[in-house]
Amino acid sequence: MAVEQTFAIIKPDAVEAGNTGNIVQMIEDAGFTIRALKKVRLTEKQAQGFYHVHAARPFFGDLVSFMTSGPAVLMILEAEGAIAKWRDLMGPTDATKAGKDTVRGRYGKNIEKNASHGSDAPETAAFETAYFFNCFERV
Ligand code: RTP
Ligand code: MG
Repeated sequence: MAVEQTFAIIKPDAVEAGNTGNIVQMIEDAGFTIRALKKVRLTEKQAQGFYHVHAARPFFGDLVSFMTSGPAVLMILEAEGAIAKWRDLMGPTDATKAGKDTVRGRYGKNIEKNASHGSDAPETAAFETAYFFNCFERV
């Protein structure tokens, strides 16, 4: 399997609850290398642009409100098969259906407040990492 990079967010619900450190520990324990990391509060425009593929969905307004409700932690993660590996570690979108060994199962609350984001394909990983990190912010 090839080494690849994926984009991850610790969402505002998990940052607010004080679970940043726990989630970073899960990421490192799973064998990812963190290539970039920063804490930001997204603007409405940034959140709308980031989730543009969901613009027509009924939950879009709520999603943008949630993602701008407080600080979030943005990361680039690297590993063999990082995109699928991080989505496996996160668990399914609906945190109530996620296993207790996953980030969403441990720290998410429901289908919206689900503690974390992960890219879903190489194209989205490339778009999302470049959306938030320039070359000088990657190590
Ligand atoms: P993400 O993009 O954040 O990693 O999550 P995902 O791929 O598992 O799920 P996706 O379908 O891309 O949805 C993006 C985010 O929108 C919120 N959501 N709310 N109220 C709802 O029915 C609903 N469905 C999705 C979640 O925060 C989800 O992660
Ligand atoms: Mg998604």
